[in-house]
Amino acid sequence: MINQTQKHTQPLFTMKGNQKDPAEGWTSKKITLCFLALISFLYISYSLQFVSPSNLCRQQQSFTAHVQSQPKPKVSLPPIPQPITDTTPEKPQEAKTNISHIVFGIAASANMWGHRKNYIKLWWKADQMRGNVWLDQPVKMEPEHDHLLPPIKISSDTSKFEYKHPRGHQSAIRLSRIVSENFRLGMENVRWFVMGDDDTVFVTENLVRVLQKYDHNQFYYIGSSSESHLQNIYFSYNMAYGGGGIAISYPLAKALEKMQDRCIERYTGLYGSDDRLQACMAELGVPLTREKGFHQFDVYGSLFGLLAAHPVTPLVSLHHLDVFEPIFPNMDRVHALQRLQAPMKIDSAGLLQQSICYDKTRSWTVSVSWGYTIQIFRGIFSPREIEMPSRTFLNWYKKADYTTYEFNTHRFGRNPCQQPFVYYFSNVVYNKNVSHTATEYVRDRVPDPECHWKMANPSRIKKVQVYKAPNPHLWDKSPRRNCCRILPNTKKNGTMVIDVGACNEDEVVEVR
Ligand SMILES: *[C@@H]1O[C@H](CO)[C@@H](O)[C@H](O)[C@H]1NC(C)=O
Ligand SMILES: *[C@@H]1O[C@H](CO)[C@@H](O)[C@H](O)[C@H]1NC(C)=O
Ligand SMILES: *[C@@H]1O[C@H](CO)[C@@H](O)[C@H](O)[C@H]1NC(C)=O
Repeated sequence: MINQTQKHTQPLFTMKGNQKDPAEGWTSKKITLCFLALISFLYISYSLQFVSPSNLCRQQQSFTAHVQSQPKPKVSLPPIPQPITDTTPEKPQEAKTNISHIVFGIAASANMWGHRKNYIKLWWKADQMRGNVWLDQPVKMEPEHDHLLPPIKISSDTSKFEYKHPRGHQSAIRLSRIVSENFRLGMENVRWFVMGDDDTVFVTENLVRVLQKYDHNQFYYIGSSSESHLQNIYFSYNMAYGGGGIAISYPLAKALEKMQDRCIERYTGLYGSDDRLQACMAELGVPLTREKGFHQFDVYGSLFGLLAAHPVTPLVSLHHLDVFEPIFPNMDRVHALQRLQAPMKIDSAGLLQQSICYDKTRSWTVSVSWGYTIQIFRGIFSPREIEMPSRTFLNWYKKADYTTYEFNTHRFGRNPCQQPFVYYFSNVVYNKNVSHTATEYVRDRVPDPECHWKMANPSRIKKVQVYKAPNPHLWDKSPRRNCCRILPNTKKNGTMVIDVGACNEDEVVEVR
């Protein structure tokens, strides 16, 4: 044993038996010294940390932390450079963007003016809004009616620019310069320049809501694509379509104005004004910020499917008012659009917002597009089906091909029993006593579809009433569809009563 132990030249610790090692005394002294050294080292580390100026304020905290994180000896490291904190006082909070901060530029032409100005009158409020209609030549004004319209400006001559597209029109160059021309007028307190066509209607309260989300001191190019996939391929998915409306922040308009005329010279082969604008945006490196509430509406036929299943975003614009059918049956286009004005005034944030619910006892699916239409379907459809627009329209190439849209669509009514019963908005009143709106929708006068299903028939519902509290702050929150509930109706047999509002906790659109 001894021999074995002695073989170790420098035994530091030995566990072998009780016999004394000659080296043992020295070893234990060494351990004690090491221990003392460690303690002093720790103590010095602490002391140094306490007096180090960068740690003065954190002393209390770090001490506690160290005590808790014992027994690991802490190695002191060179101080980590602190990030430079901005000590400049914060800029005073800017007021929220409102309608006065927007300057509109409406693209128009003299030969269409007499007819199209009626669309502008639908949404323009001369006492609140700023902007101009840009025309190619002067038009005759009727002072008694036309004082309600925006001021008229004649675009500057663009004949020196080359235009080489075989089918388009030189006026595209004039129209693409509207933002720059508006900018050069030097108006004050402008945050956004918004372009639209003379056949575009804006829901300006919602336009303001959308623009409020963005910092107008930065570069923003906001709008939306075409509904037609092919249009987006021929033009660009990166392009804001002019008719749907284009919003450009002030500093971006400033940058554009400086370079646009040179830029236009480089794209003589393009077709329109909005693709020329996008080409310059691409040179500036500014992508499209897509907002789905701007509607180019490159479709023919009835918009019903699109307006009955609007995406969960505020309705900002409708374009191609001369192309699609009137949005309400049995009236002309202008009157049909006028009908939307009443619900728009009372609850613009909720206009066309969809909610989906079930009449469980009768096995019906109900879809509300607030302020526009109610649909009742026999049978239970899931929200993922009902939120897809039904194809009531044709694409820009006049085909009913479902592969040509840039969103999902749905075909309803192949089986007559599944055709919806449609109720159109007819009236709205605001009840101050209970702070909610009551909207009324009446059945479209069409023959009942022939259906022999043995289930409740919605045909005896002639009218739908919807109660809803207006919510101007709907879009301050993350997007979410409202919920609807069918209320028991004891009074009138032919009327369905629905309540629409924010979903309650744990409220889900489900049947069972
Ligand atoms: C819009 O905001 C400005 C502040 O930039 C304010 O002076 C003005 O009163 C506001 N206008 C409306 C209509 O709210
Ligand atoms: C509101 O309340 C007043 C007084 O209580 C009543 O006369 C009026 O009919 C109520 N209005 C509605 C729309 O219910
Ligand atoms: C409602 O209509 C059903 C079926 O037509 C009928 O049986 C019922 O008595 C009616 N109720 C009222 C309150 O009119």
